[in-house]
Amino acid sequence: MNDGIMTKLRRQLLRRNARHRKNGIQRRAAPVLKSPREIQIMREAGRIVARAHVAIKEAIRPGVSTLDLDRIVLSVLRKYSAISSFYGYHGYPANICASINEELVHGIPSAKRVLKEGDIISIDIGSTYRGFVGDSGWTYAVGEVSAEARRVMEVTEASLWAGIDKAVPGNRVRDISRAIQQCVESSNLYIVKEYTGHGVERAMHEAPQVLNYVSEDVDGGLVLQPGLVIAIEPMVQLGTEKTKTLKDKWTVISKDHSLSAHFEHTIAITNHGPKILTVL
Ligand code: MF3
Ligand code: CO
Repeated sequence: MNDGIMTKLRRQLLRRNARHRKNGIQRRAAPVLKSPREIQIMREAGRIVARAHVAIKEAIRPGVSTLDLDRIVLSVLRKYSAISSFYGYHGYPANICASINEELVHGIPSAKRVLKEGDIISIDIGSTYRGFVGDSGWTYAVGEVSAEARRVMEVTEASLWAGIDKAVPGNRVRDISRAIQQCVESSNLYIVKEYTGHGVERAMHEAPQVLNYVSEDVDGGLVLQPGLVIAIEPMVQLGTEKTKTLKDKWTVISKDHSLSAHFEHTIAITNHGPKILTVL
């Protein structure tokens, strides 16, 4: 694992897309459409992630370590014959990501990280079931939290729902991106731009990239069609859009140490609207 692989991968993608644009080549990695049968399996993968989130929600309280939470998720995944999509991904050393307060994403669970009253914690869970992935993240409050903490959580969750609302056939990827951006910016919070949503399939990250803002450099013109499965995942900070990666090479924090939140669902585009796969 070298420095901030996720950031690098995504930056490379951004650059590559920008280059193709410049050359006038509208090349997009073609997203794979899933059959109804495959989407059924992905729904099961997603349901298992949702069960793991239920267990997390019940377990979260002061005194619990992020390693405890990792173990709890692992036992739920095992119970339903799934494995963590994250473990070993580019060398990632744990089953979930657990990111506290100013930590945005990719926090590595540890026995030394113990929750306390007033913390907020983002838990990201991916399950691989019969070869397919479900991916969902949620930010939880530990007991009573500050008004600021509630605000960053509420706005980020609202922006996820605003994005999901646009995930209908005929819309374009950038309609999702725009809805998220409007929701976050109208609340004067900051969208992190270095990390994005993504297509989901047998691999965790597939085409298309699903940005949380409208960009000149990345083509958001892909028309959504039934069978496309994407993860929508706004990442939002209270004080800045800038992040930095800690020495552990994984944990991404807000550069100004302000609070951050991350909400994510895996969604299938269907003729009946967005079908959220990562629910019970
Ligand atoms: N769920 C994250 C995402 O949506 C990926 C976790 S990174 C890992 O991109 F390394 F932990 F797997
Ligand atoms: Co994701």
